Amino acid sequence: MVVMLLRPPGVYRAEGDTELLTDVMDRDGFALGRDVLDVGTGSGALALAAARAGAAAVTAVDLSLRSVAATWFNSRLHRMPVTVHRGDMFAPVAHRRFGLVVANPPYVPAETGRLPRHRKARCWDAGPDGRAVLDRICAGVTDVLTPDGDVLLVHSAVCDTDLTLDALDRAGLVPQVLAKATVPFGPVMRARSALLESRGLIGPGQREEELVVVGAHRG
Ligand SMILES: C[S@@+](CC[C@H](N)C(=O)[O-])C[C@H]1O[C@@H](n2cnc3c(N)ncnc32)[C@H](O)[C@@H]1O
Repeated sequence: MVVMLLRPPGVYRAEGDTELLTDVMDRDGFALGRDVLDVGTGSGALALAAARAGAAAVTAVDLSLRSVAATWFNSRLHRMPVTVHRGDMFAPVAHRRFGLVVANPPYVPAETGRLPRHRKARCWDAGPDGRAVLDRICAGVTDVLTPDGDVLLVHSAVCDTDLTLDALDRAGLVPQVLAKATVPFGPVMRARSALLESRGLIGPGQREEELVVVGAHRG
């Protein structure tokens, strides 16, 4: 369940990817009693879902000041305390360890490798293969996990699920695909379909994508 959230312009609207990850977190009790970190929190949808699912404490990080403000406001609105930091990935929490890390990072393949500095595009643009942020999460997440911690990531299969599984394995975790859902392209993927086709990332005429939730356990 995704609750009503304040979302100023430029802040990501919680979508099917957010919901798929939330469903896995609820279904398998990942958040229960744990310190949870939501990296790239947007409006705070996953952070609040973790709090609702019984997390002991929830911390959220985003690069965007508006997202940080929205998450702070939404957590107070729903009376679910979340500690919110502005910053890049794990930098604001480098000294901490979490039982669960969740992330719905930007994962849409973009024209260039230059990552956007402003607003909305930062929610989805992730370099030519869509993996710029994902790969950084996979490589760095072990450092912020407790010895028995888990990470849950959601992304499109367009940016190659096997690469995520391999990257998490290389980071010393035990990864697996926990959920999949096929959804029609949203406006951003539709606008990029010619680019994605030309790069062989989707088939000719393909206008739907598979979303995957990858989980990985430390220990
Ligand atoms: C696809 S949105 C997901 C938002 C939210 N988790 C959800 O599911 O609704 C990705 C978010 O990651 C944030 N982001 C992008 N790069 C980041 C980085 N390097 N460090 C922290 N946050 C980042 C964006 O500002 C955006 O809010």
